[in-house]
Amino acid sequence: MSLGTKILNNKDILEAVNKRRNFAIISHPDAGKTTLTEKLLLYGGAIQQAGAVKARGNQRKATSDWMELEKQRGISITSTVLQFEYERSVINLLDTPGHQDFSEDTYRTLAAADNAVMLEDAAKGLEPQTRKLFEVCKMRKIPIFTFINKMDRPGREPFSLLDEIESELGLNTLPINWPIGSGEEFRGVIDRFSREVILFDKAVRGKQSNEKRLSLEDKEVSKYVERDLLENSLEELEVLDEAGSKFEKEKVFNGSLTPVFFGSAMTNFGVRPFLDSFLKMAQKPTSRNSNKGDIEPASDEFSGFVFKLQANMDPKHRDRVAFVRVCSGKFEKDMSVKHSRTGKTIRLSRPQKIFGQDREVVDDAYPGDVIGLNNPGMFSIGDTLYTGTHLEYEGIPSFSPEIFSWLRNPNPSAFKNFRKGVNELREEGAVQILYDFDESKRDPILAAVGQLQLEVVTHRLKSEYGVDANLEAMPYQLARWISDGWPAIEKLGRIFNCKIVKDCWNRPVILFKNEWNLNQFVEDNNQLNLNKVAPVVS
Ligand code: G4P
Repeated sequence: MSLGTKILNNKDILEAVNKRRNFAIISHPDAGKTTLTEKLLLYGGAIQQAGAVKARGNQRKATSDWMELEKQRGISITSTVLQFEYERSVINLLDTPGHQDFSEDTYRTLAAADNAVMLEDAAKGLEPQTRKLFEVCKMRKIPIFTFINKMDRPGREPFSLLDEIESELGLNTLPINWPIGSGEEFRGVIDRFSREVILFDKAVRGKQSNEKRLSLEDKEVSKYVERDLLENSLEELEVLDEAGSKFEKEKVFNGSLTPVFFGSAMTNFGVRPFLDSFLKMAQKPTSRNSNKGDIEPASDEFSGFVFKLQANMDPKHRDRVAFVRVCSGKFEKDMSVKHSRTGKTIRLSRPQKIFGQDREVVDDAYPGDVIGLNNPGMFSIGDTLYTGTHLEYEGIPSFSPEIFSWLRNPNPSAFKNFRKGVNELREEGAVQILYDFDESKRDPILAAVGQLQLEVVTHRLKSEYGVDANLEAMPYQLARWISDGWPAIEKLGRIFNCKIVKDCWNRPVILFKNEWNLNQFVEDNNQLNLNKVAPVVS
């Protein structure tokens, strides 16, 4: 490559990086993630109509043919990446599976995101799934933008919602706009920086909306907003101004300050102002840590890592797709890359962009983008792909399992296939596998963060390996790896309400029934070092 083309390429990559913003939504079921996603996509023109993201109810069953299990349960298992353009920015929305389809993949998706949008229901505030996902964002120190949804319905006091975020998550808040009333009396928001009133109009819903804005000084405001409501809101704003935080980009970028927006996704209120501010404040694709230090996105060499594997997305092809987050350089169709774990060179001939249920072959991709690669068993979660000299990104952490179940093999003659299936699914990252400490009990224990992972395993064992398997739930909710090893376990006296097991690397793990049992154990054995997650195997 001549120097000339090199510079040209770099400029092209730099431009692409500057245009890109990538984020995932973290929320609890029912907070309105699907609704918000639909509305965001409306502005990008990426879908023709709101509602195309995830058809609901019967319609969903009729349109989804990805997977038998998906059909049976009427859910969308696959997390997809939705790319759309808005105001000359390219936005990648990494969809995090939620609801019953919550699984380790939900967490892993956050490993590929540069920003997170924390979505709360104004009536409920922080909810369990949001807290869990927040922990992952905190670990990665990614910027978090808060959208308080359902303002058209009676909700909690805005101050109490902010206090909760500050005191429980340790995250400073910076409201970008402030609501005027709520529920039946919701009239809109005041944009704190432009000092404008953005008026709420219930009727907009499925259309791209251009909310009516009036200056706070404009007399017309009184036509739409009752005086007491406005005064109340202005008083609260004064309190905020006196006490409040200032916008400091660095603090947003290191995840210690969250800009907060109020709106109503269903009525399409506040979505465009949110998107506009988000694009100004969000972090573009950043450098990532590797064995060679931080790798800058606008580099000559391509690199990326696998953050998710998905089997059977298309039953007609029985394929597997590895989702790769591009971290640096330019990805081009047919390029040859190195696979850091095996040292092999691979030609990436059919890279795909996956949009909802559709796929198209991509010709190129840039840092912040996600591509899908056909995966004939070659990729594992966390694998690095690169061109140039050897490179390995930091691995994706595993997550502490909370659901445990025996996996019984009812047909001993199928033992070989059963074992092969279990091992391959484990290697792929579909589920974590533990074994009883007592070696006479050979059935594996599935350890997962979501029930769906267990169902996927039994379903795939049947459809891909031809073996039956039965689940038998275990009464445990927490796992701790004992880093002091087996000698420490042998020294333990009798322990109650917990079970000693081992992982695939023969490391001791203790399962506990609940937090109380765990605390009791820690009190009685405070010399032991307990880990919430499986230590990385080097
Ligand atoms: P999720 O993906 O986070 O689980 O939530 P989803 O968008 O499916 O929304 C959950 C429910 O909350 C839906 O109602 C949705 O219409 C409603 N919702 C979302 N945003 C708002 C909002 O801003 N205001 C109000 N009032 N409701 C909102 P549903 O009855 O379960 O479904 P549907 O029949 O409306 O589709």
